[in-house]
Amino acid sequence: MADLTVRRLGTLFTTPVVLSSGPAGFGYELAEALDFRQIGAITTKTITLEPKTGNPQPRLVDCPSGALNSIGLENPGIAAFKRTVHPKIIELPLRRIVSLAASTYDDMSRLVAHIHALSGHDALELNLSCPNVGGQIPGADATEVEQFVRAAVAEATLPVLVKLPGDSGNLLRSCERALTAGAAGVTLINSVRGLRIDWSSGRPFLSREYGGLSGPAILPISLARVFEARRAFPEALIIGMGGVSDLGSALEMLMAGADFIGIGFGLMVDPQLPERLACALSGWLDQHDLSSVEDVIGIAHSGGFHVH
Ligand code: FUM
Repeated sequence: MADLTVRRLGTLFTTPVVLSSGPAGFGYELAEALDFRQIGAITTKTITLEPKTGNPQPRLVDCPSGALNSIGLENPGIAAFKRTVHPKIIELPLRRIVSLAASTYDDMSRLVAHIHALSGHDALELNLSCPNVGGQIPGADATEVEQFVRAAVAEATLPVLVKLPGDSGNLLRSCERALTAGAAGVTLINSVRGLRIDWSSGRPFLSREYGGLSGPAILPISLARVFEARRAFPEALIIGMGGVSDLGSALEMLMAGADFIGIGFGLMVDPQLPERLACALSGWLDQHDLSSVEDVIGIAHSGGFHVH
């Protein structure tokens, strides 16, 4: 059977399938639905220093091939995370990436210091790209990205990843500054800013008007961003996400250069999608006489498969 393991960040991940931050909650909510042995890692819901109730309803609306959300980083805050979430999540048989967001560099340092005091996590992901909170998206400004990464890396004992937007700022410059400042990799991309109008009332559907579009609708955007980031940064770790919903799109994301495939919207539609994808990937590699998933990662940059 083909080998799905990927060794990155000095750690062995059982598969390249990662649960993206948000829809997977803290993982234990999915314990009944999902075989965690098929999952490389979970990225937790984003945690902030203080608890957040999120944006007012309505904050989710269907779209053709996706959904628009405006959750607003609802989370229990770092103190409750340490007290009630951490003890449960470290029992789960999968790797853990803790997602963090802060509005100042000092707050980011403080958050990281809190996680530093805990054991059992594998990496941090700085969410610099939520489209649903006030102010400018920090990930759209390469200088902000660098400062947030420096603030985190100075306190971190775990590898630091940075989640960036696919539709604002200069992505390659932000990646470069993040990596120079000590990030171990990047997560590409967050949901894409969008709008829907309820034509029966003549008003935007979402309370905050705009939201973040995720799902198959954004697959070509996320593929383009992962592809160009891999071309520019051949050695960087990349978690590719945005619209992966079946075997074909998972293969595309890996071939574009993602080391891991993040599943977000797909999990809301079908909680078993991540494990089915891992199984389908393994079956596809076997059928094509490929011994490892590493044989497909980034292959679109080296001329594809050579037919003999
Ligand atoms: O609204 C939200 O909580 C979404 C977060 C994100 O996309 O990073």
